[in-house]
Amino acid sequence: MSETALNASADIMTVAVIGAGTLGAQIAAMTAASGRDVLLFDVVDGAAVASIDRLRAMLEPVVAGGNLDWDLDAVLNRIEPVATLARAVADAHLVIEAVRENLATKRALFAEIDAINSHPLLATNSSSIPSSKLADVVSDPGKLVNLHFFSAFWSRACVELMGCGQTTGETMATMAAFGQSLGLFTAVVRGESKGFIVNRIWRAVKRESLAVVDQGHADPEDVDRLWAFFWGIDYGPFGMMDHVGLDVIADIEDSYIAVSHDPTDVPSPALHALVDAGHLGEKTGSGFYEYPNPPFRKPGWPRSSKRSLDEPD
Ligand SMILES: NC(=O)c1ccc[n+]([C@@H]2O[C@H](COP(=O)([O-])OP(=O)(O)OC[C@H]3O[C@@H](n4cnc5c(N)ncnc54)[C@H](O)[C@@H]3O)[C@@H](O)[C@H]2O)c1
Repeated sequence: MSETALNASADIMTVAVIGAGTLGAQIAAMTAASGRDVLLFDVVDGAAVASIDRLRAMLEPVVAGGNLDWDLDAVLNRIEPVATLARAVADAHLVIEAVRENLATKRALFAEIDAINSHPLLATNSSSIPSSKLADVVSDPGKLVNLHFFSAFWSRACVELMGCGQTTGETMATMAAFGQSLGLFTAVVRGESKGFIVNRIWRAVKRESLAVVDQGHADPEDVDRLWAFFWGIDYGPFGMMDHVGLDVIADIEDSYIAVSHDPTDVPSPALHALVDAGHLGEKTGSGFYEYPNPPFRKPGWPRSSKRSLDEPD
């Protein structure tokens, strides 16, 4: 990491986070914990304020359990919920977008941000949309990147960084230093990969798991039990999809078919039936499982043996 990049990352003192949902709130918290001022905006009135309460409830047990060494009040006080997009981005050195996974929404938003302030570094937290699809709506695509964070950052302390094809080397180096300054392992994706690294692999797992269920070969619970046994972890793909949110998963699936037109990318009927019925996973109390006590949290579910990968089978 060059000293110039480290200095440039240190010059990012004010960060606007747009979208105060699951990921936007967590990005705001990580950024605030790095000592920066964060302005948090959501198009829904009151959502940014409510997200701070949600963050507190989510992070208190994590801090109490010793998994985050934070002064939580100090961190949350550094996040300012703001009522307008203009207030959020006018003086920001970096804008991180975390609104719903829809290309038209993101393009309209980046154009609006650019009209207010064309100077900041720009990052999209999209799970599947390459930043090249946003490059023509901003004045300086040299400052535009994908910066893909993960939910539950205290246990998944990593982020993926990918350029838009026109991103400058200086921006890439600065954003890599920014990711590291949040305490995250920052993986730089070379070239353009839809779904980056982790989500591209995770997407293949989701698509095949859903296909197995759609084709009637197994129930979600069977798939997850096998997965838990096989990989030695406590949940499987369907539990994970419920955790992420089935609307988010469906938006991502739809974004693949929109680009590929490949029949194997046709979104899953089982997934769409749940979304259409409002069963969006853990956040609505039902999805592939019923919450708060799905089978994978009950006695009898195969528990992770926590074997180390280098132990012989
Ligand atoms: N949920 C995950 O685990 C996860 C992980 C990595 C990346 N992402 C990505 O992060 C983004 C957000 O996902 P999420 O799970 O936080 O979604 P979410 O539905 O929880 O939150 C999205 C928020 O954006 C707000 N919003 C929508 N349009 C807006 C606009 N024009 N301006 C301002 N706010 C707007 C909504 O009101 C909502 O509060 C998506 O692109 C998603 O692919 C999600």
